[in-house]
Amino acid sequence: MKSKKKLRKFFKSLRIRLIIAFVILGVLPGIALRIGLIKGYENRAVATRSIDIRSQAKILSDQIANNGYLEDCSIESINSRLELICNIYDGRILVIDNTFHIIKDTYDLDTSKIIISEEVATSFQGQESNKYDRVNNYIQQTMPIRDVDTQEILGVLLVSVSTDTVHAAVDYLQNIALIIQIVTSILTVVCAILLANSLSHPFRKMTKSIEEIQIGYGEDVLHIDDFAETEEISENINALLKNMKVLDESRQEFVSNVSHELKTPLTSMKVLADSLIAQEGAPVELYQEFMTDIASEIERENKIITDLLSLVKMDKAADSMNISSVNVNELLELIMKRLMPIAETQHIELVLESFRPVSAELDETKMSLALTNLIENAIKYNDKTDGWVHVSLNADHQYFYVKVEDNGVGIPEESLDHIYERFYRVDKSHSREIGGTGLGLALTRNVILMHRGAIKAFSTEGEGTIFTVRIPLKYITA
Ligand SMILES: Nc1ncnc2c1ncn2[C@@H]1O[C@H](COP(=O)(O)OP(=O)(O)OP(=O)(O)O)[C@@H](O)[C@H]1O
Ligand SMILES: [Mg+2]
Repeated sequence: MKSKKKLRKFFKSLRIRLIIAFVILGVLPGIALRIGLIKGYENRAVATRSIDIRSQAKILSDQIANNGYLEDCSIESINSRLELICNIYDGRILVIDNTFHIIKDTYDLDTSKIIISEEVATSFQGQESNKYDRVNNYIQQTMPIRDVDTQEILGVLLVSVSTDTVHAAVDYLQNIALIIQIVTSILTVVCAILLANSLSHPFRKMTKSIEEIQIGYGEDVLHIDDFAETEEISENINALLKNMKVLDESRQEFVSNVSHELKTPLTSMKVLADSLIAQEGAPVELYQEFMTDIASEIERENKIITDLLSLVKMDKAADSMNISSVNVNELLELIMKRLMPIAETQHIELVLESFRPVSAELDETKMSLALTNLIENAIKYNDKTDGWVHVSLNADHQYFYVKVEDNGVGIPEESLDHIYERFYRVDKSHSREIGGTGLGLALTRNVILMHRGAIKAFSTEGEGTIFTVRIPLKYITA
C-alpha cells in the first residue's frame, strides 16, 4: 500500500513526467521513421525488380514463340539467353508447353515433369501473374507464350528470382539505423534528464525554502526568480507570509491589550483595599467612599468582559444572527430614551429626526448595541457647554441610513483609521475617566458588517464628528 503510494508520488513528480514526455517525444518518432524508411526501401526495391523481371519475361516469351522453342528446346541462342538472365537475377526459369509439361528447367531438376499451379493455370487463360513471397525471399512471374500471328497461347514462362540481395540491403540498413537510433535515444534520455532537472529546479528550490521557513531557518522571504511564473508564485507567497505576520502581531497585541485592560481595574481595587487595610480604625465614610470606587471598578471589569465575550461570539459565529423585521424608528426612539438621562447630566441636547417610517430585517439586539454605542460616544465625547447630538434616520428602496452628528471633541485625522480597532482610544486617560474600554466601535463595526452594511466617520478635531451608517433593508445571507 505504502509502496503503491510512493510509486504514485514518483510518477506525479514534475521531473519524472517531464523526462517521460521528452523521451517519448524524442525516441518514438525515431522508431517510426526507422521502420517506415526501411519498409519503404524494401517495397521500392521489390517493385523495381518485379518490373525488370516482367519485361525480361515478356521479351523471352516473344523470342520463344518466334523461334519455335516449344517444339525444339535445343535452340542455342534461346538457351544461352535463359542462362544469362538466370545468372543476372539469381533465378530459375521454367518453360511449360500447352500440355503442362516442363520442357526446360534452368536448374535441370524438373524437366519433363508436369506442373500444376494456380499461377500457371491462370496464365494459360491469358493472364500474367506476379507474386512476392516475403517469407521464402523470391519474386515469381508467369507470362503466357503467344503465337505471334494467332495470339494463341502455346505455353507459359515461369520466372522465379531471389530477393536475397534486397534483404541483405534491408538488414544492413536496419543495423545502421538501429545503431543511430540507440545513440540518439541515449542522447535524448540524457538531454531529457538535464532539461527536466533544470525545469523542475526552481520548484524544488521553492519547496526547500518553504520548508526552511516553516521550521524557522533560512530567510522568511522567497526569491525564486528563475521563471516569470515562479517569481509570481514567490511574490504571492511573500505577501501571504506578510499577512500572516501582521495577523500574528495583531493577535499578540490583542492578547496583551486584553490582559492589560483586565488588570487595570484589579490593580485599582487592590490599591483601594490595601489602603483601607493599612489604616486602622478608618472612618466609615472612608470605607463607603473606597467601597463605591471598588464597586465601580468591578462594574468596569464586568463591562470589559461582557464586550469581549460579545466580540468573540460575533467573530466565531456569523450565522448566529437572529433576524426579524424591526421598526427602526421605534428602535432609535427607545435607544434615545435610554440615553436621555446621561445626556441630561452632561447638558447635551439629544434630537432624533426621522424622515420616513423604516422597517428592516435586522438582528434587533445586535443593531441596538451598535447604534447605542454610536450615540453614547457622541454624548460622552462632548465637553461643550452647548453640546448637541443630532440623530437622523432616512431610507431609499434598498437601504436605510442613520447619521449621528455631534459638536463634541472630534477625532484627530490620524486616529480616524484606528477607531474601529479593539481597545483603541484617542485619549486613553480621558476615555478611561469617561469609562470607555475602546471595544464599542469594534463591536459596532462588526454588527454593521454582519448586516452587510457600511460605516463611515468624518470629523474635525474640536468641532465635532459625524458617523454615517448604511444598512440593507432586506437581510442578505452569505
Ligand atoms: N463621537 C465621537 N467623538 C469623539 N471621539 C470619538 C467619538 N466616537 C468615538 N470616539 C473615539 O474613538 C474611541 C473608540 O470608541 P469606542 O466606542 O470604540 O470606545 P469607547 O467609547 O472608548 O469605549 P466603549 O465604547 O467600549 O465603552 C473613543 O475612545 C474615542 O476616543
Ligand atoms: Mg464607545
